[in-house]
Amino acid sequence: MKFEIRDLNSQGQGVTVDADGKVCFVNGALPGEKVSAKLLQSKRNYSVYDMITALSPSPNRTKPACVHFGDCGGCDLQHLSYAAQLQYKTDLVRNAFLKIAKINLNDFDYRITASKSEFSYRNKLQMPYRKDKKGRNRLGMYRKNSHHFVPIDKCLIHNSVGEEILKWIADKAKLKAFNEKTGRGLLRNIQIRAVPGSKTFLLILVVTELTHAVQILAGKLFKQFPKLESIYANINSDRKNRIFSDSFHLLKGKKTIAGQHSGIDIEVGPSTFLQVNDAGASELYEYAIELAELSKDQSAADLYCGIGILSCRIAQKAKSCIGFELNNESIEAAKVIASNNQVDNIEFVASDVFEYFSLVGRSESTLFLDPPRKGCSPEIIEKLCSNKQYERLIYISCDPGTLARDLDLLCRGGEFHLHSVHSFDLFPQTTHVETVLRLDRAPSS
Ligand SMILES: C[S@@+](CC[C@H](N)C(=O)[O-])C[C@H]1O[C@@H](n2cnc3c(N)ncnc32)[C@H](O)[C@@H]1O
Repeated sequence: MKFEIRDLNSQGQGVTVDADGKVCFVNGALPGEKVSAKLLQSKRNYSVYDMITALSPSPNRTKPACVHFGDCGGCDLQHLSYAAQLQYKTDLVRNAFLKIAKINLNDFDYRITASKSEFSYRNKLQMPYRKDKKGRNRLGMYRKNSHHFVPIDKCLIHNSVGEEILKWIADKAKLKAFNEKTGRGLLRNIQIRAVPGSKTFLLILVVTELTHAVQILAGKLFKQFPKLESIYANINSDRKNRIFSDSFHLLKGKKTIAGQHSGIDIEVGPSTFLQVNDAGASELYEYAIELAELSKDQSAADLYCGIGILSCRIAQKAKSCIGFELNNESIEAAKVIASNNQVDNIEFVASDVFEYFSLVGRSESTLFLDPPRKGCSPEIIEKLCSNKQYERLIYISCDPGTLARDLDLLCRGGEFHLHSVHSFDLFPQTTHVETVLRLDRAPSS
């Protein structure tokens, strides 16, 4: 089948229509290209194809740096030049705002900040450990939207020092690889994370049971790699796909590793949530703080605060800050971080963000919101609109669609108006984009 590609969707697939007007998504194809493609899937409303050849390649097409690109589900855009990736991401945001919130970003000074590194930017990588087709134990990834294991020798978007440790595990671990069909095997997954500001690593071996062989492997790794300051086992014998159980055991080294992020001293443990691109996240936090124009006579809230790095930065600039977060461990970590950094004008609550709005006698006028992909619930939007005490919202989002939906709800009744929008590319080679908005309460609302 031959197609002329019109667009690139939010999954990084080329989009076109066939002779019958049916929408077709073409993996690997870029806008403006004529391509030949083979059918993968035909549904009632759309079809999915794999590109075979770009008959007239786009000037934005580049040779993917990784040999696994297209097979591994980690990256979606390595075939697109980095400049064009940035354009694509801003177009995603522009189109979502126009379609959903009826806001034209041509009326704003809207830009994107590029990532400092196009590759090797990830501080964390999770990989399944399975047998390949030849029966060898391998580390790998899954194909996009599937559970098909793809053995990977090297991940180019991951921290390159961590890659040495992964290679050693792949070559020398010699533990029985987990088999998803039978539920048998010992080593299921590994997670390695580079602790920001420390040049050291934390490793988690996800195993079905804690055997002597696992202890020995941890001992060897600890000896071989002085940069590996902490090795944990996570015991997960569950047949479900959940990567981690709640059962973590320290095998070697420190319980937590000290690091630094955005000028804040942090402690990183096996389940500490951190953004994966340290430099990018720091830039984003600093941008968000500046955008809020905080002063020492104003209080602020950091809703969906994670381990509270941004909350501490807010507290340093404001009269006080309160952080809300559902995950109890993150809140415990946030309290330790605040105390270690002598940030006293801060409190953290482990609870649903909605509970924040039931507190009485609060004085916060600026609210920072960094919800998960699904955005804020209608109930939260209603609380934000109806309480005139909230003069300014700084909304950080990883999903242009839900962000545009919430923006529309916040501005539709005239309660807030959009002051500024800026995006950050924290995830080069993928379709993800982070966007920060400032909304100010409209004077008449
Ligand atoms: C996108 S992360 C942001 C974390 C943090 N602001 C950061 O930059 O590291 C979203 C956070 O919201 C938390 N979360 C999700 N739903 C929540 C809810 N209903 N109430 C409170 N926190 C929630 C998650 O546990 C997660 O830590």
